[in-house]
Parts: sequence; structure tokens; C-alpha cells
Amino acid sequence: MLAAAEGKSIARRCDCFYERKTQAFWEQARIPRRYQNCSLANFEVHNDSHKDALKISRQFVKNFPAQEVGLLFIGPCGVGKTHLAVAIIRELIEKKNVPCSFFDFRELIRDIQSSFTPDSNLSEAEILAPVFDVGVLVLDELGAKRTTAWVEETVFYIINQRYNQKKLTIFTSNYLDTEEEVDNRDSFYKKGGDSLVDRIGVRLRSRLYEMCKLVELWGDDYRKVAKQASYRF
Ligand SMILES: Nc1ncnc2c1ncn2[C@@H]1O[C@H](COP(=O)(O)OP(=O)(O)OP(=O)(O)O)[C@@H](O)[C@H]1O
Ligand SMILES: [Mg+2]
Repeated sequence: MLAAAEGKSIARRCDCFYERKTQAFWEQARIPRRYQNCSLANFEVHNDSHKDALKISRQFVKNFPAQEVGLLFIGPCGVGKTHLAVAIIRELIEKKNVPCSFFDFRELIRDIQSSFTPDSNLSEAEILAPVFDVGVLVLDELGAKRTTAWVEETVFYIINQRYNQKKLTIFTSNYLDTEEEVDNRDSFYKKGGDSLVDRIGVRLRSRLYEMCKLVELWGDDYRKVAKQASYRF
């Protein structure tokens, strides 16, 4: 579109260009419907871990793209790890026009595995391209699928590629780092449960710690307490 400015004609992009771009950004984001309304504004603070995690999430958005490392949200079920990860990418899309994508770890592994079958429509490279290229990637539920040498190698390859390209990744996981920590928080974690290292292997865990700031969340399962009518936050 041409617009007049100080007597000259200048080219200006049509509004529909920006609308299409925004829509493409949202499609690429792949945010699950259940989480589409999750925001930093509607994340409730009920304990210190919520407060710290919310502060770190806000800073992450504010500082982007200046920070060097991504985030690793760790904590038991229903404490808001996925909520915060989604809220961050929603804000990055809305406020900073950053292309972001959400991937569930198990689904991604399943999709890659199914690409090896002869009747698959997509190749492994086609599945992995957006995972490598996107500005900020959320990899949800890391460790949810027990590791095999192949899974470990594949995830290592993904996160290494992104790390080498200086692209930030936000991970969520239910698993803590060591058995010792699991035992110390036995009111929130299943005692004697697997640690993160059991689930993803030493090499991958070490890489994660290099490329992410650890954000630990604890507290009651929000899904459970929100259902109890008598429960008042
Ligand atoms: N502090 C909070 N404020 C507002 N909503 C919350 C909060 N914590 C959790 N929720 C809501 O509770 C539900 C469960 O949260 P979420 O899925 O983020 O938990 P999670 O820690 O990722 O759990 P899981 O380990 O099972 O994946 C979501 O609908 C989320 O929006
Ligand atoms: Mg989750």
C-alpha cells in the first residue's frame, strides 16, 4: 500500500500482512487448547516457589533475546510448570514477535519413531526442522518416556543443535536431579522414585544444566485443589 508522507509516496505494508503473520505464528506455536489461556498474569502465587518462578519467567520475557540460557522447570504434578512455559511463549509471540513452538516430549519421540515406518508421510528431517529452527522451543514433560540409547541420542542431538545455534529452549520435567533431593522433598515427590538422571541419562542431564537455569516449583496439585469447592486460595 502507498501512503503519502511529507509530499512523497512511501510503501507501507497492508494490515492483513501483519494479521497473517500473527496467525502463522500462533499456528506454529502449537499450544494445546487446554493451555491457550495460560498467562503470566493469571498464574497465582501461593508459595515462594511460585513467586520465584513467576519472577524468573517475567525476566525471561523482558530480557529476551539477551539471555544466554533457557529454563528448566522441575516439580511434581500440577504445580504449573506447563502453565508457565506456555505463558512465556505466548508473551514472546505477542510482545516480541518471536516464533515459538510447543512440543510434548513423548509425542515428539513417537512422531520421529513413526517417521521410520515405510508408509510415513513425513521424514525425520521434516519433523525435526521446526524443532531445530524455531526461536524458542518448549519441550514439555522431558523424561516422561523412559530413556533408551536411541531416545537419549535423539534428544541430545536436538538440544545440542539448538545450543550450538544459540537458540533457547524451555523444558519441563517431573523428575528431580538426584535421589537425595527426591528424599528431601518426600511430601511432594514419590519417595524412591526415579531421578532426572535415571530418566534421561548423565550426558543429557549435564548438557541441560549447562543450557538452562533450573527453576524448581513445589506445592499442591492445582488440578486437585481447584476442584475442591471448600479450598480457598
Ligand atoms: N499457580 C497457578 N495459578 C493458576 N493456575 C495454575 C497454577 N498452577 C497450576 N495451574 C493450572 O492447573 C493446571 C495444571 O497445571 P500444569 O499443567 O501447568 O501443571 P504441571 O506442573 O505442568 O503438571 P504435570 O507435571 O502433571 O505436567 C493448568 O490448568 C494450570 O493452568
Ligand atoms: Mg506439565
